[in-house]
Amino acid sequence: MSLDTEVDKIVSEFAVTQETLQKGVERFIELATAGLNSDEDKYGLPMIPTFVTSIPTGKEKGILFAADLGGTNFRVCSVALNGDHTFKLIQQKSHIPAELMTSTSDELFSYLASKVKNFLETHHEGAVTSTGSQKFKMGFTFSFPVSQTALNAGTLLRWTKGFNIPDTVGQEVVSLFQMHLDAQEIPVTVSALSNDTVGTLLARSYTGSNKEGTTVLGCIFGTGTNGAYNEKLENIKKLPAEVREKLKAQGVTHMVINTEWGSFDNQLKVLPNTKYDAQVDELTGNKGFHMFEKRVSGMFLGEILRHILVDLHSKGVLFTQYASYESLPHRLRTPWDLDSEVLSLIEIDESTNLQATELSLKQALRLPTTTEERLAIQKLTRAVAKRSAYLAAIPIAAILHMTESFKGHNVEVDVGADGSVVEFYPGFRTMMRDAIAQTQIGAKGERRLHINIAKDGSSVGAALCALSEKD
Ligand code: BGC
Repeated sequence: MSLDTEVDKIVSEFAVTQETLQKGVERFIELATAGLNSDEDKYGLPMIPTFVTSIPTGKEKGILFAADLGGTNFRVCSVALNGDHTFKLIQQKSHIPAELMTSTSDELFSYLASKVKNFLETHHEGAVTSTGSQKFKMGFTFSFPVSQTALNAGTLLRWTKGFNIPDTVGQEVVSLFQMHLDAQEIPVTVSALSNDTVGTLLARSYTGSNKEGTTVLGCIFGTGTNGAYNEKLENIKKLPAEVREKLKAQGVTHMVINTEWGSFDNQLKVLPNTKYDAQVDELTGNKGFHMFEKRVSGMFLGEILRHILVDLHSKGVLFTQYASYESLPHRLRTPWDLDSEVLSLIEIDESTNLQATELSLKQALRLPTTTEERLAIQKLTRAVAKRSAYLAAIPIAAILHMTESFKGHNVEVDVGADGSVVEFYPGFRTMMRDAIAQTQIGAKGERRLHINIAKDGSSVGAALCALSEKD
């Protein structure tokens, strides 16, 4: 077969039909309801109660600290909430060394604690050496699936996004972090545990929810993907009765749920499953889990494309100057070496003969290409990215369906989104909106939706969580 025919075949495998979108929404609602009822299904949607029971109004005030372990970076910040929807953030970001992602709990958490110490020494001189018993409150954003038992406690269910430290699984992560902070004599108490999506929901509610309707969802499309929303307490049936009664007696009506939608449809009943998806899953530390994430988020898009290119080479229609797999450029044979940033450059390339793509592929993979090959690669890139954006519409549409706040005549709602893919991938939000319009929400519903980028939401939100903690 010719290159064109092979490419068209793959592109059609990556197309997401309206039927898949609508079935996806139905399945999401089914799995979300089951997940709110019980944790029985190990492969189901986690739907984790976060113990965050109030949404900020924008009037909150105070100076708080936040530590944020997201994926590739660790951030330590101090957040000054001014009480008027604005805040001032001072932050220090460090790249997590790759070897720490597969090391031990002690190595990782002692590294995180040392970064907190460094931040306090640099930006809050005197804090570390201050004597006396006064400790600073810190919110901890830990963006992995954690089963939360209280606002400031939760055990790690499993690692995602390339982390694989077996001895952390099943451990309570706040105590672990606190132990290392104490060991390094850092005057900080971790008073709230949060997820980046919860942070994004809270931060967006603090800064701008009244601009375009209530914020109903906080979501991330970056290295990983996930979403959090506010659910009625009475619908969270898996919370023990005594916990629900106690909260009700305190006047609580809602609780934020961290859906962990990366694990939507792990059984692959509606999600597309090409042979490339199966190959990528094989390479991960959480095989069989987070199957939605593995089709949607930034960490996986480049890897899917890499598998397609290697496959087309093996069929003898691409990179024919290389006689064998072993002779292909090393980077093209190295898992995770093709960054989604390269895909974004290919996506928007309109230069003659795709010269920008030629340069990107040479720089990123040391891979020389012909114009014909580049045209094929661009088609494939666009197909992989479009499938990601289309699938991303499913949980958003499903959650809108489930939320009270979206019901009612002409009600407009706000969705806070963060992450490199939604922020920087060319056309991602537009494609996602096109797909939302094709779901049960319809074009009219889609127009009532405002998707806004919530910068730094994950850290600011952790600080807001720490503030909501009662002494
Ligand atoms: C994690 C989530 C997180 C998401 C976005 C996923 O891999 O399981 O907890 O919210 O990535 O960072």
